[in-house]
Amino acid sequence: MSFPITRLRRLRKSATIRNMVRETEVNRDDLIMPYFVLPGENICNPIKSMPGNFQLSIDLLVKEVKDLVDRTGIDKILLFGIPAEKDETGEVACQHDAIVPQAIRAIKAEVPQVMIVADVCNCEYTTHGHCGTIVDGDVDNDSTLATLAAQSVTLAKSGADIIAPSDMMDGRVAAIREALDANGFSNTPIMAYSAKYASGFYGPFRDAAESAPQFGDRSTYQMDPANGDEALREVETDLEEGADMVMVKPALSYMDIINRVKSTYNVPVVAYNVSGEFSMVKAAAANGWIDEQRLIKEILTSLKRAGADVIITYHAKEFVLSELEKGNRV
Ligand code: PBG
Repeated sequence: MSFPITRLRRLRKSATIRNMVRETEVNRDDLIMPYFVLPGENICNPIKSMPGNFQLSIDLLVKEVKDLVDRTGIDKILLFGIPAEKDETGEVACQHDAIVPQAIRAIKAEVPQVMIVADVCNCEYTTHGHCGTIVDGDVDNDSTLATLAAQSVTLAKSGADIIAPSDMMDGRVAAIREALDANGFSNTPIMAYSAKYASGFYGPFRDAAESAPQFGDRSTYQMDPANGDEALREVETDLEEGADMVMVKPALSYMDIINRVKSTYNVPVVAYNVSGEFSMVKAAAANGWIDEQRLIKEILTSLKRAGADVIITYHAKEFVLSELEKGNRV
């Protein structure tokens, strides 16, 4: 049937009919809000390249998480730590009193209903800024598995609800699963950063987390942006090793990957709307070039339409606040 019998504009005629046939809606339950935590008290360092985001000390982070839950109903956060001291292997992150474990315990004591996703990686904790242990000038896969597993167990013991390895070592999901199970955390899910690309979009994050590599780049472990089939292999191996959810990161330039993963595997897919994607919106908005809240809604909606079940985004809080202000369901 074609025109004039078919007129697709009939279903766009009014807000009511558009609301009725809308296929995708972003809900606060889909969103995870990331935070950066550092040692000290009463510290709130604005992150210049990520307007509206801060490095927070634990006391202020707890207040902020309370505010998030109270005002938006978002009850899921992702934590990144900036340690007082770094070392060669990331061992510092495996200690009971490391910065993220401390933050988790403080948040759980005050806001127990919040679900905490703990990023597992060494790059914030190593002097050289790489995601693992360096042997002969490159990140050594198998020795890094030990620190990742130890860090995961420490995070789980501190109360982390979900373990999210972002390092891209081969075999890390299996190593972490085994360590979690051996320590009584067989019910703690793993959200694997499965298809994580070596991306320029992480630039602002590396300022925020103070985790830029001091030599070389991450292309011997993170994926080549040119590859799609390889992303499916990464997802497949992570699922075989026991991942409960898989992630595609970054999100906007990789919607085809989100879509392929979602249509190939029957598992929850997470999209990480990364720092550079966030900061581009902020920069354009600061120049008055775009309608910021409209763009944010369009970005999050299109990620969900592409196949993402869950979205990690620095826009989470402002998005829900803006929708609530407009009287929209969210
Ligand atoms: C740690 C990690 C990174 C991000 C999340 N976890 C940085 C990186 O791989 O360099 C990036 C997040 C963002 O850009 O928002 N490995």
